[in-house]
Amino acid sequence: MLIDRLAFAGLRNLEMLDVTPSPGINLIVGRNGSGKTSLLEGLFILGMGRSFRTRQLRHAIAHDKEEMTLFARLGGEPPVPIGVRRARHAAELELRMGGERVSRLAKLIEALPLQLVNPDAFRLLEGAPAGRREFLDWGVFHVKHDFYDAWRRAKRALKHRNALLRHGRMDANNLAVWEQELAAWGGRVDELRREWIASFIPVFEETLGSLIDLPDLTLRYSRGWDKQRSLREVLEQGRATDQQMGFTQNGPQRADLRIRLGRRPAVEVLSRGQQKLVVSALKLAQGRLLERTTGHGCLYLVDDLPAELDAEHRRVFCRLLETMRCQAFITSVEHDALAGSWKSRTPIAMFHVKQGVSGAGQLVPRAQIDFTTE
Ligand SMILES: Nc1ncnc2c1ncn2[C@@H]1O[C@H](COP(=O)(O)OP(=O)(O)O)[C@@H](O)[C@H]1O
Ligand SMILES: [Mg+2]
Repeated sequence: MLIDRLAFAGLRNLEMLDVTPSPGINLIVGRNGSGKTSLLEGLFILGMGRSFRTRQLRHAIAHDKEEMTLFARLGGEPPVPIGVRRARHAAELELRMGGERVSRLAKLIEALPLQLVNPDAFRLLEGAPAGRREFLDWGVFHVKHDFYDAWRRAKRALKHRNALLRHGRMDANNLAVWEQELAAWGGRVDELRREWIASFIPVFEETLGSLIDLPDLTLRYSRGWDKQRSLREVLEQGRATDQQMGFTQNGPQRADLRIRLGRRPAVEVLSRGQQKLVVSALKLAQGRLLERTTGHGCLYLVDDLPAELDAEHRRVFCRLLETMRCQAFITSVEHDALAGSWKSRTPIAMFHVKQGVSGAGQLVPRAQIDFTTE
């Protein structure tokens, strides 16, 4: 699951790049505006099919280009090439894997599990439940193989139920069919989420403990409907009010993760810096659990680490990454802020994003410029 070759063309300001990353830590150094975040964005698009910077992928295409193509080769026996292409006027992202077109994004997501740690990451705590649900489902998806199918069926049933609720004259038979479907698959989604969270919590607590001392911090899963009743009952009994509202008010689509310090929501009590550490622990724990349960490493994209964590926590964060068998791309403006944090046996590559006269960023192995002491 490690990327052993990376080739991008037509992505933001990055000039054609074709590099051989390290299987361990890849440090990306360059001035503001040189293209560091764009490099992480490219990797994120490859693994997630969307950007973390823009809702519209065409904004990521270089201004003077008609399309972008992003390619990575996943090492292994045999290696698996994955690629995405997006033309400026195309409606969709074209996905390829192992030399063939694939229609399901889930294939790519499965092949390249990744976690992003960037300046927006603390929003995981203070933002809407959707972000935490996505975090939760990422974990369940990668660890529980029948999750995707159950989740897809539940989502489809919910869509149909909501459409019927909004419809003036409700077709009772039709509604019963979708309700039954939603109750069955939504129930399964909840079961798998519960199993996953039970194994996630100890890994999270262990990881958090090495980053920061917050013994009163708790993480709890809330499933999105009454604990005492089955989803079927909840849907049946809520039908009238759901119809008034025009949508299904309770169900797996309302699940959340509750992060508290004592009895209060953690965001209300923790400093921004502490929130960043909690989020870092959540994200590192995802990769650790994935590795422990599946043997597959997770790709970490860390944007501007020195701005995120102070020197001491940066060291602990780097140490934790080193203990995992993961590949990481870490950016920084300052070369010195990252160079000293690693053990000598950790494989490290350093790249410099250099802006040429054309304003385009070029990725150059740092060793070829002035890096001599690695
Ligand atoms: N679609 C685009 N085409 C060309 N250049 C772009 C595009 N979008 C952004 N840029 C430019 O790319 C540069 C790289 O930005 P960014 O990756 O955020 O740099 P860094 O993270 O190194 O500070 C910026 O100067 C920005 O103006
Ligand atoms: Mg940046």
